[in-house]
Amino acid sequence: MSRRRQIYEGKAKILYEGPEPGTLIQYFKDDATAFNAQKKGTISGKGVLNNRISEHIFTLLGGIGVPTHFIRRLNMREQLVRQVEIIPLEVVIRNVAAGSLCKRLGVEEGSVLPRTILEYYYKDDALGDPLVTDEHIACFGWASQEELHDLADLAIRINDFLSGLFAGIGIRLVDFKLEFGRAWDGEFARILLADEISPDGCRLWDMKSNEKLDKDRFRLDLGGEVEAYQEIARRLGLLPEGS
Ligand code: C5P
Repeated sequence: MSRRRQIYEGKAKILYEGPEPGTLIQYFKDDATAFNAQKKGTISGKGVLNNRISEHIFTLLGGIGVPTHFIRRLNMREQLVRQVEIIPLEVVIRNVAAGSLCKRLGVEEGSVLPRTILEYYYKDDALGDPLVTDEHIACFGWASQEELHDLADLAIRINDFLSGLFAGIGIRLVDFKLEFGRAWDGEFARILLADEISPDGCRLWDMKSNEKLDKDRFRLDLGGEVEAYQEIARRLGLLPEGS
């Protein structure tokens, strides 16, 4: 095995130094965590599926003009990406009430929200990724006003596109999380969509049965995690029918 330099190890991915300056290799693990890593497990084969699903979605988003870090998939578990300086925010977009929104506000799970909600969480494991407002982001300088405007704009565009993509294959995009980074070009930074988009960071419900086809199967001990991820890949046309 080549001795590549590991840059970072997260809960579900490892980043290695890439072949050219300014690139990284993003390796998808089978590890799964939930509730700020209080629950840990392995979903055998998840990394392979997420690599493929994320490649597909990032390629489609690139096609509609969303700037992303994705360059190309290298193999079953790895993709080549542009190195970015991660903005320490998780951007969550919600179309239907679920998860922490229901817990926090007592809203019934499954209620269609009268308008899409955009939330920001400060990426800090020790603090449990707290919900923050624009005021906190500006005050502590996590993103400039202009960057925050760009993030919101991109998040809404991505939501519109992905809601349509999933609706076309009988899946409701309930909510999802995005991460962005800065790609420096001299003194100018461009905002790129980073990380991954996969059933690990999205809530995806079958439109007819409301069956959960995402990481909630792991979080809520529902079982059938890999089958759910495979179903998403299959409906996206990434696995042969009947597999
Ligand atoms: O838990 P919560 O309801 O706030 O999650 C909203 C969405 O963001 C879900 O789709 C979840 O998968 C995603 N998320 C994530 N990583 C986190 C927190 C939430 O991918 N650390």
